[in-house]
Amino acid sequence: MWRLAVAFLLFGTLQAVDRQNFKVCDQSGFCKRHRSIVEPTGYEVIKDSIKLNETGLHAKIKNKDNTLKLSIVVLKDSTVRVLIDEDEGALRPRYQPLDALVNREPEQQKLKKSKEEENATKLLTTDGNRVVLIHKPFRIDFYVKDKIVNSINSKGTLKFEQFKKKVLLTDKEKGFWEETFKEIKDTKPYGSSSVGVDIAFVGAKFVFGIPEHAEGYQLRDTRTYEPYRLYNLDVFEYETNSPMALYGSIPYLVGVNQKRSVGALWLNAAETWVEIEPTTADKGALAKEVLDAETKPRNVPQQNARFISESGVIDIFITLGPQPNDIFRQLAALTGVTPIPPEFALGYHQSRWNYKDQKDVKEVHEGFVKNDIPLDVLWLDIEHTDKKAYFTFDKDNFAKPEEMISDLAENNRKLVTIVDPHIKKDGKYHIYKEAKKNKLFVKDVNGDNYEGNCWPGDSMYVDYTNPKARKWWAEQFAFDKYKGTDKNVHIWNDMNEPSVFSGPEITMHKDAKHHGGFEHRDVHNVYGFYQHSATFDGLKARSNNEIRPFVLSRSFFAGSQRTAAVWTGDNKADWNHLRYSIPMLLSLSTAGLPFVGADVGGFFGDPEEELLVRWYQAGAFQPFFRGHSHQDTKRREPWLFNSTTTDAIRQAIKTRYAFLPYWYTLFYEHAKSGKPVMRPFWLEFIEDESSWDEDRQWMVGSGLLVKPVQEPSAKEVSIYLPGKRQVWYDWHTHKARPSPGAVQIPADLNTIALFHRGGTIIPKTSEVKLTTKENREQPITLYIAVNQKGDFANGTIYLDDGESYSYENGDFAYWGFTFKKEHDYLHTITSTNLDKKGKLDSDVYIDKIVIRGAKFYPRNAHIFLDDFIPEDLEFEFNRDNFLMEIENPGAYVTREFKIDIHS
Ligand code: GLC
Repeated sequence: MWRLAVAFLLFGTLQAVDRQNFKVCDQSGFCKRHRSIVEPTGYEVIKDSIKLNETGLHAKIKNKDNTLKLSIVVLKDSTVRVLIDEDEGALRPRYQPLDALVNREPEQQKLKKSKEEENATKLLTTDGNRVVLIHKPFRIDFYVKDKIVNSINSKGTLKFEQFKKKVLLTDKEKGFWEETFKEIKDTKPYGSSSVGVDIAFVGAKFVFGIPEHAEGYQLRDTRTYEPYRLYNLDVFEYETNSPMALYGSIPYLVGVNQKRSVGALWLNAAETWVEIEPTTADKGALAKEVLDAETKPRNVPQQNARFISESGVIDIFITLGPQPNDIFRQLAALTGVTPIPPEFALGYHQSRWNYKDQKDVKEVHEGFVKNDIPLDVLWLDIEHTDKKAYFTFDKDNFAKPEEMISDLAENNRKLVTIVDPHIKKDGKYHIYKEAKKNKLFVKDVNGDNYEGNCWPGDSMYVDYTNPKARKWWAEQFAFDKYKGTDKNVHIWNDMNEPSVFSGPEITMHKDAKHHGGFEHRDVHNVYGFYQHSATFDGLKARSNNEIRPFVLSRSFFAGSQRTAAVWTGDNKADWNHLRYSIPMLLSLSTAGLPFVGADVGGFFGDPEEELLVRWYQAGAFQPFFRGHSHQDTKRREPWLFNSTTTDAIRQAIKTRYAFLPYWYTLFYEHAKSGKPVMRPFWLEFIEDESSWDEDRQWMVGSGLLVKPVQEPSAKEVSIYLPGKRQVWYDWHTHKARPSPGAVQIPADLNTIALFHRGGTIIPKTSEVKLTTKENREQPITLYIAVNQKGDFANGTIYLDDGESYSYENGDFAYWGFTFKKEHDYLHTITSTNLDKKGKLDSDVYIDKIVIRGAKFYPRNAHIFLDDFIPEDLEFEFNRDNFLMEIENPGAYVTREFKIDIHS
């Protein structure tokens, strides 16, 4: 438990990351070797090796050091895969994290045409894209409608360290064969096998993505600084504004351009560094390619991203967009989407390290009822277990888990318990015994079970890369195995980078051994992914595949969204961490992982009351909404403060519940389109370049702009309203504002700046209840924000039972609402069933319709239901701010209606 002791010493004094514990590029042999390349490495295509086929080509490339095999494959939907591996005869196979993909073999698409020329082979796709393999020097260019948008190896940095036999060891190669960091040796029995190459985003002013870093949303120039590091690590008291690695990695980034955005997924699970170099097209090898009648290369922005990985292969997926929607759909086709979460998971979660005992749990959850604050889930951290043996309950403090769980369930609440991957080394612990017997632990370099130190003290680590281990792990969640639990218990996987207190950089030794003969260095970044995937499978299986699981994970990789939500780990109770949570969550959303949040209030330290309120207000508009804190902090249940603070927190949480119909609909739409729920501006406003890198504000869906207060004692909030010729409505005052433009609104403790985008319709719960289950049955208010022209708005709503998979069999409803100006004297509001496969007929009705920007003078309004007999409607109209409010229209959310408004 030395880590706890250290934590205790540092707490409240230093409050900063110990950088010495973590490597910079210079301390990482392979990163340094790649980064010091100055001259092009001289690869060329071996001309008579090129073999064209229906979907792409195979070829060999070589330079003075080695020969590699290359394949270029065209995939469905404007996506191209480039794979570079060692040639036949390699000493060892290289690892590919193919389970990150939805299909290990993504679907290919036949070429329209291919052509071999003197120094280039050209592939023309049926989507109208062109891939050009330049033979000498080796380079691959990508064109969308005749414009070059991307290029691989245009800087000639391709480097591929091949496995060698150790007999060749020379002094010069020392770093190649072993490395020591802080007295811990990496034995590298197979030498170094690093790979790296540059990828140019031509025409892109900005690149976004490659989470997780506590940095601004826009990726910065790393040349005079450190490259971004992707290596899943348990970083104690992490710093903001730093490219240091954190808990998870998604090696995906996107270069944004008004007409042609492009994404690149670097499918490699080893430690990876990413260098970002902003430049212009005249500075490199592509000047000739961008030149045309209108553009001068010096006016074409370009971002060079160079990926460097310690092992594995080069496996790049280029998604050619061209529009933001296309980019998200294409990434989703590769790495998947988050399936519709159980609705409770979108409510508010209350956590703490730790709720002490069952009495404590009861008091806290009843406290929410007493104080009229919504809550869906109570969380139990590590202390609830029998001495850190996961899958058990402490015999004294949690003696009757069934009672505690049913008490919560009677109030429509759930419990989440923590289950970490390190297994206590204890001959009496059933999980340890079984895993040991079945040989399911990671092995050390000598082939013995790998031992490390974590919360329980001496521990071993399940090797989730082994399918047998995953199956076994999943089985442990069965109700008869995980004693005391039932379907109301969901799971939190923490410390799954994995965190090893005694290991190098607080993680596992790189020469540890995994299933299939791979080293830990090869699989490091997918370790957590495999753990939470297996947990998800187990939760699904324990209910005969009937109930949707909820799993929270700290570590993640590309594809994690299919089975987990993630949070940003151990942040701090300071304003900076509140601010940085926004770009961190936007980067995750950009990389395909939508169900994300940060510990509300900050994990370490005690937030001042104002900060806590502001954090609740931000969290209420972020996808995963959980208050959590370190065991050394003061208790912070919302009612423990002065009443203005409690009132403001209550209001923030209630606001979350009021918008739940919208959130739930957005998650459903994410599962169909791949678009995130928390959105960066470029996704919605590609026409407004000045908004793309915004990271103090964000969109929830396409209709709601959010800016929480992020400074102490703020008297006002400034908001940038993005887009061109759009209209925005202040959510509270209904006042219309044009865009692009900046506005300032006065701020008090209850202010969250919210703007409703003209042209959209948002469904909101009219009267909030204390749990999502009760809330979902409440009537809806439809908020209509008329567009700038005054003639249109639309929106959607999705409903199902909120917990099972019966939606797969038609037990759902997906409806659209449209506001339209038919002519000068008639406006209509209609509803339509958008997916006839959905058969759900819900009792939920609309008890109010609010029309913002009603620039007409309504004389009368009536509704037509299915009997086609018009019924008169009562309404109010406010001429000063063009607001029309229709009370009790008598419409149901899942039945057709039409409202005529005559003016
Ligand atoms: C890690 C987690 C934190 C948790 C603690 C104890 O630090 O990030 O959320 O409370 O472990 O389990």
